[in-house]
Amino acid sequence: MQIAKCVIGNGRMSETGLYRHHFPELRHHSFSFFISRFSFILTRSMRPDQLAKPGLLTQPVYEPGRPIADVAREHGLDPDSVIKLASNENPLGPSPLAVAAARRALDDAHLYPDGAAIALRAKIGTHLNLDPAQIFPGNGSNEVMQVLAEAFVSPGDEVVMGRHAFIVFKYLTQFNGGEAVEVEMPGFGHDLGKMREAVTSRTKIVYLPTPNNPTGTANDAVDVVAFAQDLPQHVILCVDEAYAEFLDPDEAPDLRPLIAAGRNILCCRTFSKIFGLAGLRVGYGYGPKPLIDLLHRVRQPFNVNAIAQAAATAALDDREHLERTRDINDAGLKQVSAGLVKLGLNQVPSAANFIMFRVAKARDIFLALQAKGVIVRPLAPYDLPDHLRVTIGTTEQNARFLDALAGALGKKLS
Ligand SMILES: Cc1ncc(COP(=O)(O)O)c(C=O)c1O
Repeated sequence: MQIAKCVIGNGRMSETGLYRHHFPELRHHSFSFFISRFSFILTRSMRPDQLAKPGLLTQPVYEPGRPIADVAREHGLDPDSVIKLASNENPLGPSPLAVAAARRALDDAHLYPDGAAIALRAKIGTHLNLDPAQIFPGNGSNEVMQVLAEAFVSPGDEVVMGRHAFIVFKYLTQFNGGEAVEVEMPGFGHDLGKMREAVTSRTKIVYLPTPNNPTGTANDAVDVVAFAQDLPQHVILCVDEAYAEFLDPDEAPDLRPLIAAGRNILCCRTFSKIFGLAGLRVGYGYGPKPLIDLLHRVRQPFNVNAIAQAAATAALDDREHLERTRDINDAGLKQVSAGLVKLGLNQVPSAANFIMFRVAKARDIFLALQAKGVIVRPLAPYDLPDHLRVTIGTTEQNARFLDALAGALGKKLS
């Protein structure tokens, strides 16, 4: 007998949920009842891969940073001794104000969230001086970009992105039948001239992550605005600002005037990085209202949960946590960068909270670090098989990473 595995989802219907939906009179029966009655349907049905949408079978699966518990189990380590420097999370943890707000929100967990995320959008609006109607809340900024691609990318469309840009852009494009047009990134930065040249009459979206993950490179603010201005009207520019808060305010491109002028620009931000709320999944996009209105047609009714909304709203008020995070990151960037220099490794100067560096036998080094309880990120999926990316941690975590790396390379730090 063939039984479909349950898939964990953000409120999407499970296999049994689907049966219950179609046969409401059977609502009170157990899972085994369904299996005993309907197993003949399962055994006779076509294989799921025969039913899948075109392209799904070749769709790559995103490889996240490995979880601490997983690595600890695999290597027989105490989970408390394992450090994760693999997903650009905040080493200080979440803002205490956010945690307190999340705890309070738990008391109302029996109620659906505010589907329109009114309080959160109002707070973001105040924070960025935008009309809340210009803000689109998402289950992480990943979801914002997923909704954008679902809303706009059709088979035959081209989507322009850097060759080593955040990989989700390529996956979303492919999933929606579009063609990913990958532009070379000399020196690992986005070449705006080359990207402009790659735009054709078939281009639907251009992605510009600044700073970019995994390279850590940021484009000049003035250049980004000029690039946005110069794009043809049939193109949507998606500026991924996941790490924008790590830039000095005058280094961060400000696309709000062009958005106000109605240009098709969607800027995406997240609470996963500097705000330390990656586990809650909350982010947002901002753009011209007509674009945002269309995105609302695609999202699930309650796409951002109530706990995340409360925490994110409070986090925006926690200037102290934000400043402390910036400070520890600035110091950590210097510490890790200096360590890599001592180890004779080439690195790409970073404007974010991680550093990409080149190392021979990167996969072996990644595994050796992992065995010592230090999780970093291998970059083969980014076409960078001889590079690793390390997130900036606390001073102690950075020192531990550098020690472990020196050990794995058979070198000394001093
Ligand atoms: C450049 C970039 N954009 C977007 C995201 C997605 O962030 P989230 O979905 O957690 O908001 C990430 C996460 O790693 C990222 O590095």
